[in-house]
Amino acid sequence: MPQPVLRTERLLLVPLADEHLELEVELDADAEVLRHLYGRARTRDEVTASHAERMALGRQVDGLGYWMAFHGDDFAALMMLPPGDRPGEAELGYRVPRRQWRRGFASEASRELLRHGFATVGLRRVFAQTMAVNEGSQAVMRSLRMRYVRTFHPVWEDPLPGAEQGEVEYELTAAGAVSSPVG
Ligand SMILES: CC(C)(COP(=O)(O)OP(=O)(O)OC[C@H]1O[C@@H](n2cnc3c(N)ncnc32)[C@H](O)[C@@H]1OP(=O)(O)O)[C@@H](O)C(=O)NCCC(=O)NCCS
Repeated sequence: MPQPVLRTERLLLVPLADEHLELEVELDADAEVLRHLYGRARTRDEVTASHAERMALGRQVDGLGYWMAFHGDDFAALMMLPPGDRPGEAELGYRVPRRQWRRGFASEASRELLRHGFATVGLRRVFAQTMAVNEGSQAVMRSLRMRYVRTFHPVWEDPLPGAEQGEVEYELTAAGAVSSPVG
């Protein structure tokens, strides 16, 4: 089963392909979008390397990978549901161009990815991680009714501002998704 095209009320989610590289480059050219991820904008070469890694991860587990979300012709979000380290798990992620923030796109697209992940792929658990200081990212997790699991403290070579507060992990299990539907 290859990654399907997915739809929500407002968005079309298309499996990431080479034709999307320019949009990824543009997205990561905004340092504010990457504030809690890299603390700076990324170069074309860096994004090209990430694109290749994303495409490779998209080939690992049927139905999992990366999607580009579009609102009409307008790019709305890079959505991530690559496999986690353990079978039956995947990691949810999202990156929205700044002009599209606070329009409900990250949560709307995530709800569809969670539905797809549990109902179609048969995942047991979806988790998401972010810096504790990344309020926006955690607000999305909470709006999806994901459950706070833990705070942890990775050792960084070059820590970003706020790194001392650690990283947080949230999760949703298949059982939780059934008892409290996300969409
Ligand atoms: C975090 C991010 C993905 C949110 O995307 P978005 O499309 O604006 O989020 P939504 O509009 O779906 O908002 C979902 C909820 O989060 C809240 N929210 C969004 N951004 C917020 C912020 N910066 N601070 C506080 N709450 C925020 C919304 O109000 C909404 O709450 P509600 O469900 O109670 O109404 C976006 O700001 C982004 O791309 N940031 C940079 C990349 C990043 O940090 N990604 C996560 C890395 S782990």
